[in-house]
Amino acid sequence: MSGSAGIQQGSPAIGAAGSAPAAPGAGGTEGSGATVGSARIAVKKAQLRSSPRPKKLEKLGVYSSCKAEGACKCNSWKSQNPPPTPPRTDQQPNTFNLQDPCRSCSHTLGDHVTHLENVSEEEMNRLLGIALDVEYLNTCVHKEEDADTKQVYFSLFKLLRKCILQMGRPVVEAQESPPFEKPSIEQGVNNFVQYKFSHLPSKERQTIVELAKMFLNQINYWQLETPSQRRQRAPADDAAGYKVNYTRWLCYCNVPQFCDSLPRYETTQIFGRTLLRSVFTVMRKQLLEQARQEKDKLPPEKRTLILTHFPKFLSMLEEEVYSHSSPIWSEEFLAGSSGGPIPIHTVQLSIDKTASVLEPSPGGQKRKPSEPLPHEETKKLRIVGDIPMELINEVMATITDPASMLGPETSLLSAHSARDEAARLEERRGVIEFHVIGNSLNQKPNKRILMWLVGLQNVFSHQLPRMPKEYITRLVFDPKHKTLSLIKDGRVIGGICFRMFPSQSFTEIVFCAVTSNEQVKGYGTHLMNHLKEYHIKHDILNFLTYADEYAIGYFKKQGFSKDIKVPMAKYLGYIKDYEGATLMGCELNPSIPYTEFSVIIKKQKEIIKKLIERKQAQIRKVYPGLSCFKEGVRQIPIESIPGIRETGWKPVGKGKELKDPDQLYSTLKTILQHVKSHQNAWPFMEPVKKTEAPGYYQVIRFPMDLKTMSERLKSRYYTTRKLFMADMQRIFTNCREYNPPESEYYKCANLLEKFFYTKIKEAGLIEK
Ligand code: ACO
Repeated sequence: MSGSAGIQQGSPAIGAAGSAPAAPGAGGTEGSGATVGSARIAVKKAQLRSSPRPKKLEKLGVYSSCKAEGACKCNSWKSQNPPPTPPRTDQQPNTFNLQDPCRSCSHTLGDHVTHLENVSEEEMNRLLGIALDVEYLNTCVHKEEDADTKQVYFSLFKLLRKCILQMGRPVVEAQESPPFEKPSIEQGVNNFVQYKFSHLPSKERQTIVELAKMFLNQINYWQLETPSQRRQRAPADDAAGYKVNYTRWLCYCNVPQFCDSLPRYETTQIFGRTLLRSVFTVMRKQLLEQARQEKDKLPPEKRTLILTHFPKFLSMLEEEVYSHSSPIWSEEFLAGSSGGPIPIHTVQLSIDKTASVLEPSPGGQKRKPSEPLPHEETKKLRIVGDIPMELINEVMATITDPASMLGPETSLLSAHSARDEAARLEERRGVIEFHVIGNSLNQKPNKRILMWLVGLQNVFSHQLPRMPKEYITRLVFDPKHKTLSLIKDGRVIGGICFRMFPSQSFTEIVFCAVTSNEQVKGYGTHLMNHLKEYHIKHDILNFLTYADEYAIGYFKKQGFSKDIKVPMAKYLGYIKDYEGATLMGCELNPSIPYTEFSVIIKKQKEIIKKLIERKQAQIRKVYPGLSCFKEGVRQIPIESIPGIRETGWKPVGKGKELKDPDQLYSTLKTILQHVKSHQNAWPFMEPVKKTEAPGYYQVIRFPMDLKTMSERLKSRYYTTRKLFMADMQRIFTNCREYNPPESEYYKCANLLEKFFYTKIKEAGLIEK
């Protein structure tokens, strides 16, 4: 919009999070043009409403057709003595009476306003409000220089004139009515807050909610650039689409801020990601610039919020706005669990993620917005039996209570902390930083990045002594390779060098290392998690790497496996082959926020624990003890124990209890034989030897093995199938308790268990 336009605009002061523009003088700006413009019209309207009826009639006569007999065609009463243009302040305004003739048709003012004779004062005032808006729009049409904007003003001017003539209500006629895109910007930002920050303690969540409100408020009063300005700035963008949205924005959001006879909508409620994408980059830049310039004027309590948290918030949001696969723009985002949109004041969030991933891509540009992809894989569907969101929120509130020892800060003290927890907290405190960097042939080398690349080359050379140094140098400085670098105290302490093959849908991890004195502190895990998130944002969901013999354990813990999911045809000839190394792959799940994953899992565990406690509290009921055993009953069905079902117990698959002891014996014998001959039975053949498994008998209180079971079978101990099954089950449970999941024993237990249950089912001892 040109500077000479009649309608003045402006965004509220940074820091104004309410729903109205900042009042003049409030906050950091001098008072917005928006406020001044609309206030001026409001004053005029109030003056006119309190003026005498003849004055009102004269005003409306200007917009009323002549009703004199003889079918006069005049549609506006015009004074014989029009006021000078511009009006002179020393002159008293003309006063008219109903007998004054019209300059155009000579009929009287009264002839033009007969239809208003019996009209209520309220309706008169409404029409007068429209009349003032018409005048204001008229000025805008004349002053506006931009052709597109001028055209919209003129259409609205005509629309409002017609409304006075027909005494109707203004309705903008368009092919589509608001909202124009779903989810709306407001919903998307709410989702973002939920998606990224739901695990934070309530105080920090509140900070983010405040930032989100502030951001939405800024958009609602943001001045869009005109289509021609945009064409000049971004010639490759969808100009036609932008013009449509610009016109809608003028009609439904912008002009109604001043001309309140038009129905007004909030930009954030009727537009979605498309409009946000077209304003975000410029808006972010201007907002940060404004914040910097006004930092001394900011109230102290807002300073940290605006100068520290707001830039991070905007960076994180930007990633989601331009990402192809961000779930926050899915209409189904949380719809299942919340049952509808989540108002910004109830969302849960955090200011935790501080990673500023800077990447010197050509021109330093972010990816171009493109059509949204389907979000099938990121949809959260409601599952039957889901716990209501309100209950979860209630439980969450107790978990994130600062008094509780379960907050992420304190959980560092826990022996069960996730490996990456310390690193995540260090990142949040700014102790460490993560950056994706690389050498570029198109850009002037940045000294800091070059220093970091040299640092990376050193770390890799020291940690991977078998790799020729020259080879490491070549790849680290090769423009096709990038490195996610880990910086502590301005120094590189680790990194992952990688090459992306978007056409082949995978990325090759070339080198991965953390400097010796910083290993096993969780940095390796956190690095990999950042790399995963970076790739999800860039739509590559597969990693391949040739892992060193000594690093296979690390890669397994990061979700890599020797079972490669990428078809060989995709990577053959692309990935570099390393002698003596093992090819490993990792498939990424785009709906997992990897850097937050362990916190989320931990929180989920806590939620479930609390829910169980609540359930137990609800059903706590003491039943009298069973007296039947005193009376000689030896056994009763479990389901007949009072209260057992209320605890959630359900009978497991019912099977046939063989009544004939000989038949039972021979069936169990056959099953035991099969189990013992299975290829995965070897760890369970005999009791565990103390010498082979230190501390085993301190951990496992009820040991069991297949030899003991054979002896028990021989001595006719197994009088019911349940006794037999319980012993067998104990073998598997003990094994999984003592051994880590990646161990061979653990896997044998799983496979043998599966085989055992197949045999039991085949024998009809449990239902198929
Ligand atoms: N073997 C088995 N497990 C390992 C190894 C290893 N060599 N290194 C780390 N781990 C385990 C850790 O014990 C930890 O397990 P836990 O969570 O159960 O306690 C887990 O892996 C992750 O530990 P982190 O502290 O997150 O990782 P760290 O910061 O130590 O970084 C890394 C791991 C990069 C492998 C580091 O040890 C290193 O630089 N090693 C030397 C260089 C190297 O071997 N790089 C890989 C070569 S292959 C390639 O580059 C493609």
